[in-house]
This record gives sequence, structure tokens and C-alpha cells, in this order.
Amino acid sequence: MSTDVEKNKYIFPKDFWWGSASSATQMEGFSGAEGKGKNIWDYWYETEPNRFYQGIGPDNTSQFYTKFFEDIQLMKETGHKSFRFSISWSRMFPMGRGDINQKAIDFYNTIINTLLENEIEPFVNLYHFDMPMAMQDEGGWESRSVVEAYVEYASTCFEHFGDRVLKWFTHNEPIVPVECGYLYGHHYPALCDFEKAVQVGFHSVLASAKAIQVYRDKELGGKIGIILNVTPSYPRSNHPADLEAAEKADLLFNRSFLDPSVKGEFPEKLIDMLRVENFLPKYEAEDLDIIRKNTVDLLGINYYQPRRVKEKENMPNPNAPFMPERYFDNYDMPGKKLNPYRGWEIYEKGIYDILKNIQQNYGNIECFISENGMGVESEERFKDTNGVIQDDYRINFYEDHLKWVHKALNEGANVKGFHVWTFTDNWSWLNSYKNRYGLISVDLQNDYKRTIKKSGYWFKKLVDNNGF
Ligand code: BG6
Repeated sequence: MSTDVEKNKYIFPKDFWWGSASSATQMEGFSGAEGKGKNIWDYWYETEPNRFYQGIGPDNTSQFYTKFFEDIQLMKETGHKSFRFSISWSRMFPMGRGDINQKAIDFYNTIINTLLENEIEPFVNLYHFDMPMAMQDEGGWESRSVVEAYVEYASTCFEHFGDRVLKWFTHNEPIVPVECGYLYGHHYPALCDFEKAVQVGFHSVLASAKAIQVYRDKELGGKIGIILNVTPSYPRSNHPADLEAAEKADLLFNRSFLDPSVKGEFPEKLIDMLRVENFLPKYEAEDLDIIRKNTVDLLGINYYQPRRVKEKENMPNPNAPFMPERYFDNYDMPGKKLNPYRGWEIYEKGIYDILKNIQQNYGNIECFISENGMGVESEERFKDTNGVIQDDYRINFYEDHLKWVHKALNEGANVKGFHVWTFTDNWSWLNSYKNRYGLISVDLQNDYKRTIKKSGYWFKKLVDNNGF
């Protein structure tokens, strides 16, 4: 008689990091309570609630702040071996620096201890799009003093939690606040200013390197990394003009963070591009040395969708604000597979291409898939008579990506785990609760009641069998 394990085709290495990822603003709730200061999301919601889908703001999230005991039990039930959460900087330091909120320390200590008691390893991220408002008032990542405040905050976290947390991350997707906050308007301060965008990017890289330096000085015995959305840029064709367009997009959106984080230096071609356009950031003499010496131990890779580009066909008005799209046009591939709710292309092989790129061009640094997931609107329509959401589409999505992860692994990629986005349905920034991503549903109308979805049971089996 064949056992389940024999039937499985895609078996992963022993101790593979199976788990999920989350972020403070998206799940904690109590955004103005328990001593927490405002972050940019609290402020933005207060001043422009209309920007948020159905007017639901960051206070009305899945309430992990009070429901974490139940949630950690659910993590156990769904097979989690690890869980990534982020610490809220504005909960730790309501003003961004200075007075510390003891309740925050108690809260994160309890989370870490409860996870460990349940044999779930905490992976802790320090920054997930959530600038404290007091720091934004000082210019956010545009400002050097904010970099110093961040390093102080990071150092405090290492001191309080570093005896038990052995995997740290300095940022989640640091290109996103650059793009969304300073080019395309989806994050506060919603500017369109390439010069500031470059400065914000540079300071985020510097802040990461400085936090890594502080972490290493403390000799706490863990690893520290960064989480990047290394969206591959695929050219429309092999024509040199399309290839060049793809290379430029890759330099701007991927290598701007990947190279300094892993190799300790910015790509020459990127520096040349910025120099030609007169957009080099301001920096101090020792900054490049700090970046060079403090590269990551570990790389988290978030993957949702590819980027497809083609040669720039119509040159924009030279007097219009400078945008990265001056170098390329986005290309909508005919017949692409699409998640219609989020509008994102589904291209499973992208995850393999990223892993191969890291293997071949980035020293095969230790890495893991730190986010992958599918957001679906109106999921209640898939509820069965027992109230369980039958999300087969999500199971298929994960399996189709995991097959490619498995292939990369077999070919020598140093990939150590797979975290889904996300654990419970959570609050998705401007989209609020429009698209649901969780292994577990949250009923906002019924005291945030949690119910494991079909994918949650699938995940448990996946982990138990170490594959599928
Ligand atoms: C990732 C982020 O980029 O994508 C998450 O790290 C985010 O914070 C996730 O929630 C899904 O995107 P969205 O916008 O649909 O929530």
C-alpha cells in the first residue's frame, strides 16, 4: 500500500522553513492605543479616509494585538514552522525616537515567547512601509536624521528581543515606499518627485547597512537579512532595444537594492544612468564603505508577478516630471494568465528565474521565498455549508509556484523555505480588505471570527509531508 509520502512528487529538504508572513500595520489593530504613536497610515486615514477601499482604515485590521493567542494556536493547527511579523516602529517609539513604550516591549516579548513555546520560529522584520508620523514630519527616509533614529530603534529591538529572535530583516520591499510614496501616489506622502525617490532609496539602503553593522557588533548569534520583491523584468523580444529597456527597469527596480544588499555596491550602470540625468543622491564619505562592509546574511524574496517591458515608443515631454518610465514602456503580454481581482499577472516560472539569478549572479546566498500569495475578492462566495472557504484556486497557485521552487532547489539554488502571504486575511493598505490572501478567513462583521480555509488544511498537510 502506498503511503502519502510515496505519492508525493515534490519533496523538500528536511527543516524547510514552512510558514507565513505578515506585517504590523496590516494585522495588529489598536493603531492609536496602548501607547502607540501614529504612523503614516494612521495619519493618512485620519486626513483622507476616502483613499481607502470602503473607508476601512488601519485600526480595523484583524486585531492580532488582542487575538494573538488564538492566532498562534491557529498557526500551530495549520502546520507553521516559522512566522514572520514586523515590529511597529511607532508602537515601540511613539515619536520615532526617545521615549520607549513599555507596552510594546511587553507585547512583542509575549508574541516571541508564545511562538517559541509552540515551536514556531519568529522571523522579525523591522520596517514594513510604516514610517512613524513624527519621523515623516522630519522628512521620512529623505532625511539623514531619520536614518539615525531607525538605527536606534533597530538597536533597541536587537537588545530586547535578540536573545530569542535569530532571524532579522531590516526592511520589507524597500523599493515599494520609493515607488508608491515618491512616484505613483499609493503611499503617503504620495509625491511625484524622482530626486526625492532616489534619496529615499539611498537612505533605505544605508539604514539597512547601519542596522546590520549594529546587529553584528552585538554578537547575538543570529542572522540578519533583507526582504526584496525581486520582480524579474522580461523584455517583449530579443531585439536589442527591448533588451536594453528590460535591463534599465531591472537596474532601477531590482538591482538598486539587490546589489548593495548582497554585494555591497550599487551597479555601475545604475550610477551612470542617475549621473547622466543629474539624479545622484546626496551622501557622506563613509556611507559607501558602510554599505560595502555590511551586506546581508540572508535574502528574503517576495514574488507575486513579473514585470514585462518593451522599448520606449513615445518620448515623454522633456518638461514633464522625470519618471523611470522614461527608459521603457510597460508591456501587457497578450493572453497572459491573470489574477483578475488584483490585476496581477500570474507567471509561476518567475519564481524559478529569480532563484536561478540569485544562484548564478549573487553567490548563491542563502535565501527563502518570504512572500507568495493570491488575493481574491468576495471570497464568501466560495464558502461551503460548514462555512469553510473552498479556495482551490489558492492551493493551485501555491502548488504551481512550489513546483518551480523545487526545480531550482534540485538545480542547486540555496533556497531554505517558503512563506505564504498570508496567515489570516489582513488589511491591504489602500485596498483594505478588498482582496483576501489568508489561509484563514477573518469575518469583520462577526468579531473578526477566524475560520481555517481549505488552503489552511492543505498547508498543514504540505508541511506534515514536507511537500506534495
Ligand atoms: C507585498 C507586501 O508586496 O504584497 C504586503 O509586502 C502586501 O504588505 C502584499 O499586502 C500583497 O499586496 P496587496 O497590495 O494586494 O496587499
